[in-house]
Amino acid sequence: MIEGHMTFEPSSGIPVWDVDPYAEDVLLDPAAYFAELRARGPLVYISKWSVLATGRYEETREIFSDHTRFVSSRGVGLNDFKCGKPWRPPSIILEVDPPDHTKTRKVMARALSPKAIAGLKDGFRQNAEMIIDGLIERDSFEAVADLAEAFPVAVFPKAVGMLDSDRRKLVDYGAMVFNALGPDNKFRRNAMAMAPDIVPWITAACARDRLTKNGLGALIYSAADDGEVTEDEAAMLVRSFLSAGVDTTVTGIGNALWCLASNLDEYEKLKADHSLARACFEEVLRFTSPVHTFARTANQDTEVAGHFVGEGTKILCVLASANLDPQKWGDPEVFRIDRKPVGHMAFGAGIHGCVGQNLARLELETVLTVLVEKVARVEFAGEAVWRPNNAIHALDRMPLRFIAR
Ligand code: HEM
Repeated sequence: MIEGHMTFEPSSGIPVWDVDPYAEDVLLDPAAYFAELRARGPLVYISKWSVLATGRYEETREIFSDHTRFVSSRGVGLNDFKCGKPWRPPSIILEVDPPDHTKTRKVMARALSPKAIAGLKDGFRQNAEMIIDGLIERDSFEAVADLAEAFPVAVFPKAVGMLDSDRRKLVDYGAMVFNALGPDNKFRRNAMAMAPDIVPWITAACARDRLTKNGLGALIYSAADDGEVTEDEAAMLVRSFLSAGVDTTVTGIGNALWCLASNLDEYEKLKADHSLARACFEEVLRFTSPVHTFARTANQDTEVAGHFVGEGTKILCVLASANLDPQKWGDPEVFRIDRKPVGHMAFGAGIHGCVGQNLARLELETVLTVLVEKVARVEFAGEAVWRPNNAIHALDRMPLRFIAR
């Protein structure tokens, strides 16, 4: 018996593998796990957790694109909400299916539409300039704290309209939410230990009277005034901004800096043509997949790649592996900023595809553009160290040096 979800025997023909995808060494350096997962078959039974996993592009996309057969309402992590109580009230956008999802998605999509976020551009740029100017002055700096965290925490709470902002709590909340998607391992337990300190703070910070009247949060509350959602639901949706919008972009910036410092020729390409900033971010997403794994649960007996999949089966969809699948991408192990990897899975796909992607792109495009305008070379000033997380592939520390142009 595995706590949190049902156990089952895989149907014949599905290879059985005793790997632990949530072991520290796998989370820190997952390339070999991804390659073997893809090589073993389109679906693999992970005996340690009694779940199926797919690391291939085609099946990952098929499962994410079909919300009728593969639901989110039973949780997008390892635990099946039908078999155990979730650690927090489930998200009313990420962890629901239509028709509930349709209603909340509409409200969030409006608040994060290109039109709603267009006004954020100048403020984002000023903050990026200020932070990067400061870093050029220093001999070296800690890029995760001083840039990857500093930028989103400077711009995002302000965009939401939060009156209260606390960098540590905001970043740690994201890491907690993503660690919670894994099994009861040390990463999840350490994350949960922070909950009593962080969750009440987050909940209070999402209340209407703790938000300005002109931010993205206020747009969500105005949907409550119009009767589209209740006031409590509006608070839950503002909470979704904070669960999904901070740690992801922190990771996106850190991973982008890591890719560019590791591929100096690609940095030169970006310096020569600043309009590649957006394409560069898409390639960073494909190459490093900030969210490495999300799950779905089969809601009916069905078939994937010719294999029987029974109702209640959890399937880990390893987005990071799909993004490196040689069946889909030529030279997947090569980071190339002009690749334009249309169809990558880093923002998911289908009805739950990232509703914040316009905002994420605006943040990253701004940081990358200001970077190449001001910095001639990005150099490592020490070893980059990754931070294990059950669902996020992020750096823990990365000493860097910026050489001014
Ligand atoms: C959904 C990744 C930034 C809010 C998703 C999903 C992925 C993802 C993979 C799909 C989840 C699923 O299908 O189960 C990312 C990455 C980001 C990023 C890699 C940055 C690099 C953001 C930002 C926000 C945000 C900035 C908010 C402003 C959301 C929400 C959902 C979501 C609310 C749930 C959408 C739904 O279920 O309909 N994200 N995200 N994300 N994202 Fe993002």
